[in-house]
This record gives sequence, C-alpha cells and structure tokens, in this order.
Amino acid sequence: MRMELLVIEGGKRLEGELELQGSKNSALPILAAAAVTGETSILKHCPYLRDTDAAMRILRHIGCTAERAGDTVIVRSDAPKRWEIPDALMREMRSSIIFLGALLSRFGRAELSAPGGCDIGLRPIDLHLSALSALGVRIEEQCGRLCCSAPKGLHGAAITLPFPSVGATENSILCAVTAKGETVIRNAAREPEICDLAAFFNGCGARISGAGTDTITVEPAARFRATEFTIMPDRIMAATFLAAAAVTGGSVCVHRAAPQYLVPVLPYFEQAGCVVQTQGDDVLLHAPRRLQSTGLVRTMPYPGFPTDFQASAMVMAALSQGTSVFVETIFENRFRHVPQLRRMGAHITVHNNVAVVEGVPQLCGAAVQATDLRGGAALVTAGLAAQGETHVSCVGHIDRGCERFEQNLALLGARIKRIETDTE
Ligand code: EPZ
Repeated sequence: MRMELLVIEGGKRLEGELELQGSKNSALPILAAAAVTGETSILKHCPYLRDTDAAMRILRHIGCTAERAGDTVIVRSDAPKRWEIPDALMREMRSSIIFLGALLSRFGRAELSAPGGCDIGLRPIDLHLSALSALGVRIEEQCGRLCCSAPKGLHGAAITLPFPSVGATENSILCAVTAKGETVIRNAAREPEICDLAAFFNGCGARISGAGTDTITVEPAARFRATEFTIMPDRIMAATFLAAAAVTGGSVCVHRAAPQYLVPVLPYFEQAGCVVQTQGDDVLLHAPRRLQSTGLVRTMPYPGFPTDFQASAMVMAALSQGTSVFVETIFENRFRHVPQLRRMGAHITVHNNVAVVEGVPQLCGAAVQATDLRGGAALVTAGLAAQGETHVSCVGHIDRGCERFEQNLALLGARIKRIETDTE
C-alpha cells in the first residue's frame, strides 16, 4: 500500500519570513454558519486543508454550493435539501458535530452520527446536547445516530456551560441565531475563534455581544444578508512556526500573525530565551543558541496556555537547558507524541496528565509516526532540530490543519520533502 512520508534532514537554522494561513478552528464553525444564513457567504483567508475540504463536502451534501478560488471559499445556502449527514461524511472530520447547530437552525431538525472519540480523548458532546436541549431541541440517540428536532421551534434560553467548551459554545451560537428571543450563554469559551464566529454572524445581521468574554448574548437575526468575511489567522500555526524557529536557533518573521491572539504563548518563547518582537500584525522571533527550560506549563482554556500548542512547546522543552513540567488539563490523552519523541532521544516521563521533560542538547533523527494533528506537527519540528534524517509517517493527520506545511518550512530553509513509499 502506498503511503506518504515527510523526510526531514535536521540541523538547519530556519530563517526568513512567511505568510500565516487562516485559522482552521475559525473556518470550520464559520463554514457551518454559512449554511444557516440562506445567503451567499464569501469567506476569505479560508485555509486549504483536509478538514475544510471535508466541511465543504458536508455543505454540498445538505444542498449548499461550496466553491474554492485560492484562499477564498464561496458558499451559497439558498436551496438546502437535506438535514441528515451520513456516517461516512461525519467520520471524515471529528469536529463535524459543529453542523448539528447549523442544521437545527436551518431545518429545525438534524440527523447525524455522534462523533466518536479520537486520538486525544473521548471527546464527549454532553455539553453540546444539554445546551441545545435548553434551546428547545429534542434529542434521541439511536444506534450512534443523533436524531434531533425542535417540535415547538427553537427559543432563546439562559445557558450556563459547566465547562467553557469551545464546540458547545459554538453550537449554542449556531442555534441561538435563529431562535425566537434572546439567548445568554454563561461560562462561554473565550477563544478568539468564538469572536470570529460572532463577527461573521453580526456581519450577516445577527446581534451577538460579549464574544471573547465568559458571557455571550445572542439576538437572532430578523433576516440574514449576504456577506464577505475574512477569517482570522491561525494562532496555533503561528506558534508552531515560531517553535520551529526556536528549536533550530533560527530567526523568522511570521506575517499576519495577529499577535493579540498570541498573548498566552509569547511569554513562553521569551522565558525560553528567544527575543520576540511584534510589529503591527507581524511577529519576529530570534532564537538563542540553546533554549532554557520554562518550568511549569499548564494548559488552560483561553486566555490560558493553549492545549493545541502543548506538543510543539514540549519539543522546545526537550531541547532546553533544564527540566520542564507539562500539565495537560484539557484532554485526557494528549501526550501521544511523547513515545515518538523518546524514539528521537528525548528524556520525557509521563504520569497521568503530567509530563516531566529533562532537556537534552541534541535529538537524533528517527522514523516516527504522527498520532494526531498537533503531535504530528511537533514531530516535524523535532526533526528540523534533530541530527540526521527523520521520517514522519501518517502525514494525513498533519494535512488536516497545517496548510502547505512542508512548503512553508522549506521557504524558511528547512530541508524537508514529501515522498510516497510502499508500506511493508
Ligand atoms: C476545540 O475542540 C478545537 N477544535 C480543539 O483543537 C481545541 O484543542 C479545543 O477546542 C480546546 O481549545 C476545533 O475548534 C475544531 P472543547 P472542542 O469542547 O470544541 C470536554 C486542534 O488540534 N468536553 O473545548 O472539541 C472535552 O472532552 C483541535 O485544532 C466535554 O466533556 O474542545 C475536552 O476534554 C484539537 N463535553 C474539553 O471539554 C462536551 O460536550 C475541551 O473540549 C464538550 C467538551
């Protein structure tokens, strides 16, 4: 069977500049939101990824048109046809649960598969379902399928999320924008991608306030209008490229990096000994010859340290002077990159959700396997710094969220290429 590998010759300093992609985690809920309006949505800076492709296939299946021209995607949702999404389409993208709220808003009913767990955790959706129930949704689970309807229509509600779940906040907004009456979401997620979703809907005629805080108020739109919207930059990919520069002793400028969204991570680079400058929307990083450990890192909901950057931050720690401790508080199984990093000579021990990292002066190239999107990107980052050649397999994980990853790294001087090979 044919499989793709990323082959990296390590030891090369990354230098130069790159233009950052649009945010995967903003594009996905906004693509779902485009199905709600019944209008034409022109989405600029929409990253070309496996996940955004999967979302576009779901849009076409339910009766929208979704066309890409470069980094612009145009969605027309004036003639919806289906409120059910087949299992095969649901399985293509873990976060397709975001279409539940969109279908309920558009059709008043929805049928789709409960997303299974994934590599980083069980990924339950109980918070989504309880929030939607408060908005008038009746949910029946039959053989792994969610059959949802709103027999009396969607109505505004006061929702308090037990945990500031990003997806549950997004699904609540997707339903509330067409509900009768005002909805208030308390203990809402504060991630910047929530602000982008709210800004998209406000551009289409809804009135959503408080996005970015823990209390969001949603006034439904009397009617939606067509809109043109530019998706925010991908803050996790900005941090990922900065980490690649940091571990190679490099000097890199990331354009369109929206430093205001990097507030939770820029101090991490500075504590590690990097010089970080922001100029408008650009972030420049100059790395030291050897990184310093930063002590304790605890992942938290925004504006805390992002769990999506934990793996690449750990690669920096693995090469630092001193010992670092990572506490992963968001997902229960998000250290799957650790065994792969240990194959490259990293000294990391894991106890439950705590990883202790003793920095080493050098990693060695090895054959490693991507286990999930962010872990895979971290293995590539480790390969850039390692002595010798690293082969990263299961690159499909990486292609879900890293647009033109090897091309961008090669632009910065990395010796990286994608090859096809036969598995034994
Ligand atoms: C979003 O996932 C992101 N995905 C994740 O990025 C990100 O890691 C996560 O938010 C946290 O920032 C997208 O935006 C597409 P959550 P989401 O609901 O919405 C538990 C990446 O690599 N939970 O905030 O699934 C859940 O199990 C991905 O780009 C429940 O228990 O995150 C987890 O432990 C990975 N019940 C925690 O909450 C629920 O109903 C955070 O989940 C929902 C969530």
